Amino acid sequence: MISIRGLTKRFGDKAVLDNIDLDIASGERVVIIGPSGTGKSTLLRCLNFLDRPDAGQISIGDLTVDAARARKGEILALRRRTGFVFQNYALFANKTAKENIMEALVTVQRLPREDAAKRALAILSETGLADKADSYPAALSGGQQQRVGIGRAMALDARLMLFDEPTSALDPEWVGEVLDLMRRVAEQKQTMLIVTHEMQFAREIADRVLFMEGGRIVEAGTPAEIFEAPRDARLQRFLSRVGR
Ligand SMILES: Nc1ncnc2c1ncn2[C@@H]1O[C@H](COP(=O)(O)OP(=O)(O)OP(=O)(O)O)[C@@H](O)[C@H]1O
Ligand SMILES: [Mg+2]
Repeated sequence: MISIRGLTKRFGDKAVLDNIDLDIASGERVVIIGPSGTGKSTLLRCLNFLDRPDAGQISIGDLTVDAARARKGEILALRRRTGFVFQNYALFANKTAKENIMEALVTVQRLPREDAAKRALAILSETGLADKADSYPAALSGGQQQRVGIGRAMALDARLMLFDEPTSALDPEWVGEVLDLMRRVAEQKQTMLIVTHEMQFAREIADRVLFMEGGRIVEAGTPAEIFEAPRDARLQRFLSRVGR
């Protein structure tokens, strides 16, 4: 169970996250949609302190971190419970696919290198990339790089996986394989919080969809409620713009 209370983030005097409350059940798949600049990425980044929230509490299982007085050890513990998949993959260019996955296992999970290497190879075969273990990112397609990015988050065995527009930097030909891998992650009952502009995929994978605007969750519901019967005028406008 994940619980977020009063999460607030300001850049200058602008509240980018405005007192967000959100509960996510274990195994639940929550998709966030909304216009550009409304705080979707900031919300994900604040959940593992890539951006430091100004206020609020984040609980993952029995760990509760209060933004106002979070210490280094607590932040590390929170990061151990979350895996992050970035829009631009964020792989180390000078490390192979295998080493990219090992890196987090060694630094965050403190696994011995040998165990980390074994785990990285197992994950690479799960993602269909066993034969790319020793390839550097520059030698991989965008889709393959993002599958390594997802593999890196999978390897951490995190309680919560955060995906920030994992397909939006990809050429259209690679989107399908990345969404397929996310479907497989979902089948493992992994708790997922996904920001995406892929509305069809959102409908298909989400247990619950959140519409964000101006740093707030303006509307939340099942895919049917959000896409077939949107209530808020801002959500209606958004959907007519992006298509459903
Ligand atoms: N490091 C920063 N410094 C100052 N302002 C920032 C910073 N990061 C984000 N912002 C601002 O916070 C607001 C929310 O940004 P965020 O990236 O969370 O939006 P988003 O909903 O993810 O948008 P997009 O759909 O374009 O990715 C924007 O107005 C952005 O300019
Ligand atoms: Mg964003």
